[in-house]
Amino acid sequence: MSMLTNNFDKRAKHYKKYARIQKIAAENLVNILKDSGEKDLKGTLELGAGSGIFTDLIKTNFDYENIFCVDLACNFLKLNRESEKVQCNILKLPFKKQSFSTVLSSSVVQWINNFDELLKEINYVGKNNFRAAFSIFLKGTFYEMDKVSKMTGFGNVLKMKESSYYLENFYKNGFVVDFFYEEKYTHFFDSVRDFLNNHKHTGATIKAKRTVNKGDYNSFIKYYESLFSLKNKIPASYNVGYFVVSKAS
Ligand SMILES: C[S@@+](CC[C@H](N)C(=O)[O-])C[C@H]1O[C@@H](n2cnc3c(N)ncnc32)[C@H](O)[C@@H]1O
Repeated sequence: MSMLTNNFDKRAKHYKKYARIQKIAAENLVNILKDSGEKDLKGTLELGAGSGIFTDLIKTNFDYENIFCVDLACNFLKLNRESEKVQCNILKLPFKKQSFSTVLSSSVVQWINNFDELLKEINYVGKNNFRAAFSIFLKGTFYEMDKVSKMTGFGNVLKMKESSYYLENFYKNGFVVDFFYEEKYTHFFDSVRDFLNNHKHTGATIKAKRTVNKGDYNSFIKYYESLFSLKNKIPASYNVGYFVVSKAS
C-alpha cells in the first residue's frame, strides 16, 4: 500500500516550515466550510491530522469540544496540540459505529489507494446525517517532477487520481456531494535543488523504483531546468480537490 512508502514519520520536525501548499489546502477547506454555514464542529474526527496544521485552523474558526485526531505517524501526532489523539491506520479506525457527526481530512486521502474502503470505514463511524469534508491532491500535482522522473529515473511521484474517481466513489457509497471545487496552483523555487529539498522536508516523498546514482540526479536537474524553468525560476504544479459531502440517514 502506498501509505507504507511515505516518509512522514521522519519529517515531522520540519514539516510545518515547508508545507506551504498543505497550509493553503487547509485554509481553503476551512473557508469552504465557513462559507457553507458551518459554525459548530462538535463530535469531529480528523483523519491524518499529523502535526495539526488543519486541526489548529478548525479550533480557531469553529466551536468545538474535542477533535479526535488520528494519524499513522507517531512523531507527527506528538506535535499535534489536540488532546484526543490516536495512532492508527485510517483504514482501520478503532471507533464504535456512529461515533462522529463530522469527519474532516486535509492533504491525506491521496495516500489511500482504495478510497471505497476508506468511505466504508467513514460510513461506519459516522452518525446518521453526518458531514465530511476533504482536501485531496489530484492528478497533475508534481506534473513537472513526474515527467522528468520518468525521463531520468531519478525520483518517483505518487500516482494521484482525478477528481472523477473521488466523485464516483462518493456517489457509489450513497454520499451527496454538497460542494466540489478543483484548483491548480504553481509555486516557484529558486532552483531544482531548492524544490527537491522542500519536497523532501514535507515527507511526501516515495521510494525510488530502483537505485539511483549521481548521474540520474544531475540529469533530473538538467532536464527539469531546460524543460520547465521560467525566468530562472523553477515551477512546481499542484492540483487540489475540495469536497464537502453528506450522508442522509
Ligand atoms: C501531508 S500530511 C497532512 C497532515 C495534516 N492533515 C495537514 O494538513 O498538515 C499527510 C498525513 O497523512 C498521514 N497518513 C497517510 N496515510 C495514512 C493512513 N493510512 N492512516 C493514517 N494516517 C495516514 C501521514 O502520516 C501524514 O501525517
